[in-house]
Amino acid sequence: MGYEVLDVKPVTRRIGAEVFGIDLGKPLSNRQTAELREALARHQVLFFRDQEMDHDAHKSFGRLFGELAIHSAIPGIEGHPEIVAIHADAESKFVAGENWHSDLTCDPEPPLGSILYMRVVPDSGGDTVFASMYDAYDSLSEKMKVYLEGLEAVHDANPVYQRLFPDLDRKYNRSIHPVIRTHPVTGKKLVFVNPSYTTHIVGLPDDESEAILKFLYVHCMNPNYQVRFRWRPNSVAFWDNRCTWHQAIWDYFPDTRSGFRVTVAGDKPF
Ligand code: SIN
Repeated sequence: MGYEVLDVKPVTRRIGAEVFGIDLGKPLSNRQTAELREALARHQVLFFRDQEMDHDAHKSFGRLFGELAIHSAIPGIEGHPEIVAIHADAESKFVAGENWHSDLTCDPEPPLGSILYMRVVPDSGGDTVFASMYDAYDSLSEKMKVYLEGLEAVHDANPVYQRLFPDLDRKYNRSIHPVIRTHPVTGKKLVFVNPSYTTHIVGLPDDESEAILKFLYVHCMNPNYQVRFRWRPNSVAFWDNRCTWHQAIWDYFPDTRSGFRVTVAGDKPF
């Protein structure tokens, strides 16, 4: 499908595109929505500038792509359980997404995608980096692809959130997913482990699992598979969580960076 109503400019050949000619604060036409789906499938993360969205518009935009998910570990903002605040300032001890991850792969059905709307950004720093797990997979050797095929890994949120919130006595999600996943829309294979949630590969001795995950993480962090987004106030990033990693760079302390995120529900990886 070609674009008739959107202007989509790739940021790199492999991942990321800026989308122009759209107002996310207004109801979108079927054609605009279809072209956004197409653009997301091609580019994996879409960037928008100068958007004005209230919380309802943000949620309505997300619902064009599926049901909204409630974050399994962090409560939503008052009156909008589907929206989480992404906020850091001089009081912050950590920021969300500081380490490479895909969102909530600890869930049995990890999110399809997330839509982050940034309202306040520091004068410098605070970028988000995204990495294509398609490219990470494609550049593995054929022998490594064969080795990884059929393996499954444990994704556990307990080590992540128990460290961040030691005072809360609660259990978080833990799920098992294939190490190599097939994207349900594009049919392409990709690496589906990440340094935040994946703890080990099922059925391998500990040292082998650790070595393979370490190899994959270093491999997936190759800058050739990445795009780096420089936020401005009122920018939006919409990432396909099924085929990307992302990392929020916290290089702006003690400045403030603040926005809101909705998450679109996904399905069981295969
Ligand atoms: C996140 O992981 O959703 C946070 C990303 C960011 O703040 O840039």
